[in-house]
Amino acid sequence: MALVVRPLTAADRHQSLRLGAEAFGGRPPTLPDPDEPDPDETEPPPLVGTAITGTFDGDELVAKAAVHDLTSFFHGQLVATAGIASVTVALEHRGRGLLTPMMHSAVTAAAEQGAVISTLFPTAPRIYRRYGYELISTITTMQIEAAALHSIPSGDEGGVSLRRATPADVEAMLGCYLLWAHAQNGPLTRTGPRFADPAEDFLDSTGTTLAVDAEGTVVGYCSWDRGTGYGAHVAIEVYDLIALTPGARTALAGALAGFGSVAGRVQLRSSGFDELDLLIGAGEQKVIKDQPYMLRLLDVPAALSLLSAPPGSSYVVDLEVAGDELGLINGCYRISVTDGELHAVRTRRRTATPVFTPRGLALWWSGRSTLRNLRMAGLATGGTDADPIFDALVAPRPLQIRDYF
Ligand SMILES: CC(C)(COP(=O)(O)OP(=O)(O)OC[C@H]1O[C@@H](n2cnc3c(N)ncnc32)[C@H](O)[C@@H]1OP(=O)(O)O)[C@@H](O)C(=O)NCCC(=O)NCCS
Repeated sequence: MALVVRPLTAADRHQSLRLGAEAFGGRPPTLPDPDEPDPDETEPPPLVGTAITGTFDGDELVAKAAVHDLTSFFHGQLVATAGIASVTVALEHRGRGLLTPMMHSAVTAAAEQGAVISTLFPTAPRIYRRYGYELISTITTMQIEAAALHSIPSGDEGGVSLRRATPADVEAMLGCYLLWAHAQNGPLTRTGPRFADPAEDFLDSTGTTLAVDAEGTVVGYCSWDRGTGYGAHVAIEVYDLIALTPGARTALAGALAGFGSVAGRVQLRSSGFDELDLLIGAGEQKVIKDQPYMLRLLDVPAALSLLSAPPGSSYVVDLEVAGDELGLINGCYRISVTDGELHAVRTRRRTATPVFTPRGLALWWSGRSTLRNLRMAGLATGGTDADPIFDALVAPRPLQIRDYF
């Protein structure tokens, strides 16, 4: 029977949950109640902000991929992001080439709806490299001894005091998070359909502690889960430690250190570097979990338009993208800068130089690699004259990923 790739509807919900549980663990869904009316095939699944594409062999769902409607910060701007998740092919159908048409359909639909980039957390990076995705960062869970936090000199905390957050503080915390996230490459905005309840996102832990300056402005916060038991081996899990000032950071770190007598460790999520690292000694923390993150571009002119050129500069550079297996971004592009104003378009040229592979483009655009290093890795070729211009277009910003999906 011919395979059909199509968006899932509410009527496919049970099969979709079963396939997901088979791949990623969890309890299989209970069978639908025979007395309940059949879900409407024209209705989308009851998931806000997520579209699911499935492959059907007759009536049987044999593969699926979810696309979350997300927004990321890159280059100080908002970037519409298609977050791919829950990719699975049923056990008996693996190795038959079902993945490529399904990825093509899911990613093309996201690009048509305006996504500029697509990102995902792979179980194995090789699965997605053929589709132009490359590893740009990770969510790294670091374990820090409470004693190391205890040894941070308290210094001048600039009138910062701590208090417990309440639902009335959620907007201020989101504002604080957004100020931090805006200065990084990669973090989600935590807004939009998937983040409809900020109170749940920011207060769903044992406690969220605010750092407030002398004027009462929230300049940092820390959301922490105490866990159970006590002793040197017990860890406090810190979901977010966001600090906009040094005083906020030392005050929050000092507060966490206060758990030391009952919980000897703190587990903190970062992307391998946090400003807190500047305050503790080498070897006082270790990585206990890595969740790699991959990215590819879907709309090259829109993505290039987010880069910035030095004020007053004027130039034109061309580039080509080749080797996109999903066929979305192959072609030539031009970046024109006039008096520092940058404009990017797709051109009709057949060839241009340098030539990026989609993976190379992802690494360069996200600030993960320079064009020179891409050449050494075989992910970019062609004339090198404009390399300094390309590398100057991507201002260095820390790559920081926090939200798993
Ligand atoms: C990953 C999965 C969707 C691949 O589907 P599939 O039909 O088996 O796809 P293919 O057999 O065509 O494999 C696609 C490529 O990915 C590679 N691949 C698949 N699983 C891999 C793994 N665990 N590690 C490394 N590479 C892997 C295959 O080797 C193949 O590459 P190749 O052609 O260069 O050899 C399927 O194995 C699956 O459902 N796995 C369990 C759930 C999962 O891990 N999903 C990914 C979530 S991010």
